[in-house]
Amino acid sequence: MKNVLSGIQPTGDLHIGNYFGAVQNWVRLQQEYNCYFSVVDYHSMTMPYKADQLRTNTWKMVFQLLACGIKPEHLFVQSLVPEHVELSWILSCVTSFGELSRMTQFKDKMDQLKEKDKDAVVSSGLFLYPILQAADILIYHADYVPVGKDQEQHLELSRNIAQRFNHQFGKEYFRMPEPLFTETPKILSPADPTRKMGKSYGEKHYITLFSEEDRLRKQIKSAVTDTGDTPEGEMSPGVANLFEILRACGQMDAHNALMTDYENGALRYSDLKETVADALAALTTAFRERLHTLNADKRAVKAQVQDSSAEIRKRAQETLREVREITGLLNLRS
Ligand code: TRP
Repeated sequence: MKNVLSGIQPTGDLHIGNYFGAVQNWVRLQQEYNCYFSVVDYHSMTMPYKADQLRTNTWKMVFQLLACGIKPEHLFVQSLVPEHVELSWILSCVTSFGELSRMTQFKDKMDQLKEKDKDAVVSSGLFLYPILQAADILIYHADYVPVGKDQEQHLELSRNIAQRFNHQFGKEYFRMPEPLFTETPKILSPADPTRKMGKSYGEKHYITLFSEEDRLRKQIKSAVTDTGDTPEGEMSPGVANLFEILRACGQMDAHNALMTDYENGALRYSDLKETVADALAALTTAFRERLHTLNADKRAVKAQVQDSSAEIRKRAQETLREVREITGLLNLRS
């Protein structure tokens, strides 16, 4: 069975953009592949953060991923496998400063930081972030990495690093990871449908997957529809986004019926919104219930994920033993 690895930062609550764009796909991949899904808490240290918040958000993400249907044996917390950091150091020594400097996400995140606070400190961790990501992938010999297009450059770097390592040490040791660009719906911000749904712009810009139903309905109700500046004959991005959510929920009949209304100029946005809210409520009820069940025995769930992380760690340790051998480091007596 081929190996699949992906990671998600512990941002707190999952939003529907995360779900339709990544997590839903991960749940499906579990049937076909040997999966490693990681809550990448080390990565979240690259931007300013609070320690307690990080811990809380890491567990929150773990619980929500489980509630979405990720199997505990496929899930681990990155920092519970400290070998990722060790490999990251070793890989940083085969990565050129120049290629790392070309990573556009670093520049974007740096600008984002400076925009919020012009005196903000840009950590070198933020610069090294893509090497840690390469370590995440290479440490388990991943064949496929499901990611969005925004991660394409990081994937390419991971491949270059693997190649450089293999070449430098004269051994085809690391496998070349391939990106897995599955067609996933792109969900936009309900408040500004020219941007991707995301948490960095503020509360109005995302719809959390585990919101209570009332809240969910309110969030859909206040979504921007027509701003009046869309060219004649084109669907406004806000309306298109609502249709996209409906499609993502698998409600094609309702989607097509409303689309016919739209084409006939008979669509009422309030009807569209109500249908979207119904669809999301129906989809998320099971998730909320599962989360409720998991929350009823938090300690057991945490122990389970700590154990699965320990199990996964054994594979990472195996890789590190080999990498230490290959690179001329010593190994402990085993
Ligand atoms: N950088 C990824 C993101 O921001 C998260 C990530 C970390 C990741 N490590 C990974 C994704 C390894 C895929 C594989 O979305």
